[in-house]
Amino acid sequence: MSRVLAVGIAVLDVINFVDEYPGEDAEVRASSQIICRGGNATNSLVVLSQLGHDCSWSGVIADDINAQFLLDDLSLYHINVSDVVAVTGYQTPVSTIIISDEGSRTIVHYRDLPELSYSDFNMEQAGRFDWIHFEGRNVNETRKIMQEIKLKYPEIPVSVELEKPRESINSLIEYASYVFYSKIFMQALNFDDPELFLSSMYKDYPDKEHYCAYGEQGVYAIDMNGEIFFGKAKNNINVIDTVGAGDTLNSGIIHANLQKLEMGERLQVACEMAARKCSQQGFSGLDMSEL
Ligand code: FRU
Repeated sequence: MSRVLAVGIAVLDVINFVDEYPGEDAEVRASSQIICRGGNATNSLVVLSQLGHDCSWSGVIADDINAQFLLDDLSLYHINVSDVVAVTGYQTPVSTIIISDEGSRTIVHYRDLPELSYSDFNMEQAGRFDWIHFEGRNVNETRKIMQEIKLKYPEIPVSVELEKPRESINSLIEYASYVFYSKIFMQALNFDDPELFLSSMYKDYPDKEHYCAYGEQGVYAIDMNGEIFFGKAKNNINVIDTVGAGDTLNSGIIHANLQKLEMGERLQVACEMAARKCSQQGFSGLDMSEL
C-alpha cells in the first residue's frame, strides 16, 4: 500500500441520462439520474483507494449542505481530508452533466469557490507521501507548490494532469516526472497525431514520462528514452458512464507505476481500469481486485 496525495477539486455532479441530447427550449425526461461527488483529483483518489492505497486529498471545500455530501462520500472511500481547507460564504461547485444514448457527454460546470493557494497547502506533511498528483489548474499557485515539492522532496514522484488548455499551464511540466495530457489538450496545441505530439513534448522535456489519453482508442506514452508505447482500449464494452474515465485512467497509470510495472503493462492496466469504469455508473464497487 502506498500513500498518495492528490491536489485538486471535489464537485457535485448531477448526471442526467437522456435518449438524445435535447434541443434548446425542449423539456425532456431523463431516463435515469445520479447525483454524486465528482472532480478530477477526488475521482482519481476514490479509484486508487479501491486499489488499496492510502489516499489523501488537498483542496478547498465550501460549508454548505452539498459540501457535507462530498465529505461523506470521501469518507466512504477512506480518503483523508485533514488538510482540506474549509471556506465559508461560498457554494459547492456543481457540474450539470447530460449523457445521451447517442454518445454525447455535455458538462456545464459552475464554481465560485476559491482555488487552493500555495499558503493553504501543508508543505510539512507532503514529505510523507509516496506519490503526489496535481490537477493542472490555478496555474500560478499550483506551480509554487510543485516547485517547492521538487526542491524539498526531490525523491517523491510527482504527476500532473494537463486536461484543459490554460494560460501558462505548460510551466507546470518541469516540476513533474509524469505528465498526463488529454486529447483535447493535444488538439489545442494544434496536433492531431498523438505520437508526433508526444515526441514534441519529449523533445522539450526529455526527463519525464508523457502520457496522452486518446478516448476510445486507448492511451499513448513516451518514456525517457524517447520510445513510444500504445495501450489499446478494450473494445466490445457496453459504455454506460464515461464521467471520470480519464481520471480513472490516470489512477491506473499511477497505480501501475507504484507497482513498478513495465510501460506496456502500465498502459494495459490503465485501459482495463478505464473500461471497467465506463461499463458502470459512478465509481463505487469498481472491482479492480485482480489488477
Ligand atoms: C470528470 C469530472 C467530473 C466533474 C468535472 C469537472 O473528469 O471530474 O466529475 O464534474 O470533470 O471538470
